[in-house]
Amino acid sequence: MDRKEILASVPIFSGLAGKHLKQLSKLMVPRSFKAGDAIVHEKDQPAAFFIVVSGKVEVVRGEAGGKPQVLATLGPGEFFGEMALFEGYPRSATVRAIEDTECLAMTGWDFRAELSTDAEITMAVLETVVRRLRELEERHPE
Ligand code: CMP
Repeated sequence: MDRKEILASVPIFSGLAGKHLKQLSKLMVPRSFKAGDAIVHEKDQPAAFFIVVSGKVEVVRGEAGGKPQVLATLGPGEFFGEMALFEGYPRSATVRAIEDTECLAMTGWDFRAELSTDAEITMAVLETVVRRLRELEERHPE
């Protein structure tokens, strides 16, 4: 599959026209990670937004404090790294490959530019973020 076909299979981009997918695919860079690699580190300043193409990652909070908590496991078609880019805050968690993993990465600048010009992508990203928040609250209701 080429990069455009991969993006077409990602739920947040599934409504986009072919021309837009092609433009987007030019902004995204393939990145490979080995099982065990940290892709983003909790508290680091953000630089990029990632889509998982193959493999699996886990989102872990609190590793430095010795009480790590796995918040989620993400696989093909899912994304991470949007929170710090939205907020301008450091990374909220560490994201680590738990299998050899291929991602497509976009700079924070391009990610923000896409969101500000395309309401459809913004809504799709928001839907996922809200779903993750709901799942987290259901697991930790207090
Ligand atoms: P960011 O804070 O930039 O970097 C860590 C990423 O982990 C974060 O963006 C989200 O993409 C992801 N993340 C954080 N919390 C959760 C969660 N509860 N469920 C799924 N993904 C999460």
